[in-house]
Amino acid sequence: MKPVVADADAITHAADLLRQGRLVAFPTETVYGLGADADNPDAVAGLFKAKGRPADHPLIVHVANIESLGDWASTVPETALKLADRFWPGPLAMILNKKPEVPLAVTGGQQTVGLRMPDHPVALALLRSFGGGIAAPSANRFCRISPTQAAHVSEELGDAVDMILDGGACQVGVESTIIDLSGSKPRLLRPGHITVQEIEAVLQTGLIVPSASKPTEIRAPGMMDVHYAPTTPAIRCPAEQLPDKIRQLAADGKKIGLLSYRLDIPPSGQVRVLRMPEQVGDYAQRLYAVLRELDSMQLDLILLEQPPQTEPWRAVNDRLGKATAPCSRPLPTSL
Ligand code: TXA
Ligand code: MG
Repeated sequence: MKPVVADADAITHAADLLRQGRLVAFPTETVYGLGADADNPDAVAGLFKAKGRPADHPLIVHVANIESLGDWASTVPETALKLADRFWPGPLAMILNKKPEVPLAVTGGQQTVGLRMPDHPVALALLRSFGGGIAAPSANRFCRISPTQAAHVSEELGDAVDMILDGGACQVGVESTIIDLSGSKPRLLRPGHITVQEIEAVLQTGLIVPSASKPTEIRAPGMMDVHYAPTTPAIRCPAEQLPDKIRQLAADGKKIGLLSYRLDIPPSGQVRVLRMPEQVGDYAQRLYAVLRELDSMQLDLILLEQPPQTEPWRAVNDRLGKATAPCSRPLPTSL
């Protein structure tokens, strides 16, 4: 499916398609979403099929305004209102207890529902024109890298989608921060552009932040080990280990793609080098597009220089942890 420029006519048409139960991919500030009418279980079933996603994985319902929280959540806690006031529209999704009428198809069978008001003019115009909630996972096939450009959606989904609205490259580049507000204490389910500190400052209380080694029992595919992964084997290494590693692999005749951060390694016949920006926001914005680019180069291995492991880099490191194996792990034997 070829993307179409998201002008007013295209958006009106896209809203009509959603009303007919069809699938529309659209830009948000984080990544492109694959949208379906959240009130139509058949449309939602089609969405799972197009993505190849297991039916028990819940979706985020996208809404046009804060008032819509009450259409989906059985109760809207004060914490949710505070966070929505501060961060919506924006890259924050909240998990709340669902109203009985919210289809279980959307929530993966759970009694909670994910809600987010995206900060993108096309997404907001589509939501307003459609008038209801749009269930939208990232518009990639299950376990693949999320799309941050309309062309990525075409590559991922082909004709499994009825329309792709092109709104340019996404500005944030990694998926929203997810906070679970359905229990007694707020909990981080997925790190994103909005940081733990920013959330805690608004809530005036600490967030439960699961450690990477202690996965929660909550079903969130974004928290699985292998996710957002390129098909080329990819490993991340501290800068000081990279020159040796590259020398060794190049001597073995391997074709390598290097995603460098600070390290200056000259490209060669066997080593393709893509340099990442030093600023975390720019790095995140480029990350998925660059991984896709490297993945298309028919390389034997992608090497990635480990960026800082500090708090502002939490979301980037979380995604890198899912896209790559650590340097210490033995290389795949097929290499
Ligand atoms: O930035 C984003 O959130 C993008 C754009 C398109 O808005 N959407 C996105 O959707 O990343 P998806 O489906 O790829 O990831 C949604 C995440 C999943 O990890 C899912 O498990 C979690 O949200 N989620 C949704 N509803 C949930 C619920 N009721 N309980 C726990 N996790 C939930
Ligand atoms: Mg996703």
